[in-house]
Amino acid sequence: MSATSLFAPDKNLALELVRGTEAAVMASGRWMGRGNKNEVDRAAVEAMRYMLNTVSMNGVVVIGEGEKDEAPMLANGESLGTGEGPDVDIAVDPIDGTRLMAHGLGGALSVVAAAERGAMFSPKNLFYLDKIVTGPEAADFIDIEAPIHINIRRVAKAKSKAVEDVTVIMLDRPRNEAIREEVRKAGARIRLIPDGDIGGALATCGVKGTSADLLLGSGGSPEAVITACAVKCLGGSMQCRPYFRNEADEVVAMERGIEKHTILDLEDLVRGENVFFAATGASDGDLLKGVAYSGAHIHTWSLCMRGKSGTVRYIEAIHSPKKLSELGSSIDYSPGASSHR
Ligand code: FBP
Repeated sequence: MSATSLFAPDKNLALELVRGTEAAVMASGRWMGRGNKNEVDRAAVEAMRYMLNTVSMNGVVVIGEGEKDEAPMLANGESLGTGEGPDVDIAVDPIDGTRLMAHGLGGALSVVAAAERGAMFSPKNLFYLDKIVTGPEAADFIDIEAPIHINIRRVAKAKSKAVEDVTVIMLDRPRNEAIREEVRKAGARIRLIPDGDIGGALATCGVKGTSADLLLGSGGSPEAVITACAVKCLGGSMQCRPYFRNEADEVVAMERGIEKHTILDLEDLVRGENVFFAATGASDGDLLKGVAYSGAHIHTWSLCMRGKSGTVRYIEAIHSPKKLSELGSSIDYSPGASSHR
């Protein structure tokens, strides 16, 4: 362990990580609506890598999203940071909702999380997890093993609302249809999202501008670990269990001792309270506004949080691409930069 301690009260890594998510959206935002998912990802990955390598930390990428769909990615095991400073696990999703960005739809975010070395669950080739997430008010009342209607009823009671007023947020996927039917039968409201279940989960945790109560259904495992970091900071609760697409998935997981009924709770997904999370809006959503370009400046809206202190900060930033290039940034944020590709 290096000299700088993550326990020092003055060290809030999230305040530095947020520069990585800002850079990712500034670079990839030029690709919004242009139908090219790979360019959205590539631009975000390059800018995030560049910026996170300037952060004083000895980081190792544990969650480098991109493997499942062979998109450009920050590779698992890759070192990030200057090498000076705390030893940390890093989880990144340079753009959660790449498809949303490519098609010009709202709700895409750039996210990064950090925790002490060895604290994050590494999903490896366990690609999907069934998830249940709620915010602080109902945190003690959810149980992934209990029937859906029971979870909904408990959340309603904890939040002093009628079951009919509970909003369940879920990814719109055929594999989640059975759960959707159960939610309908229970009488709760449903909000389907086309992509981006990290933002979906945050919307259940009382973050400004959001109002969902519960996230249900299966989504990506890397996203689950990143979500867990955010949920820890917000005092919510989360549980997961494997979702196997086929027998091959199940065999691979069993070799690691992970079975169909293995439950991963918040602490299994990310251990301890030394957790940091940063997100910046890529395209407009409830949680954050998307990156905006106005002549000489680029505007970004971000959220950054620290588990130990529980502080949640909103950061609105105005960036000057011209000054950044004069400073020697190797990322070109100017309007023409994306059209060379
Ligand atoms: P990316 O944009 O990072 O690829 O992820 C989008 C996403 O919707 C995640 O939020 C979600 O967890 C995952 O994809 C679900 O996977 P799939 O699209 O394969 O169902």
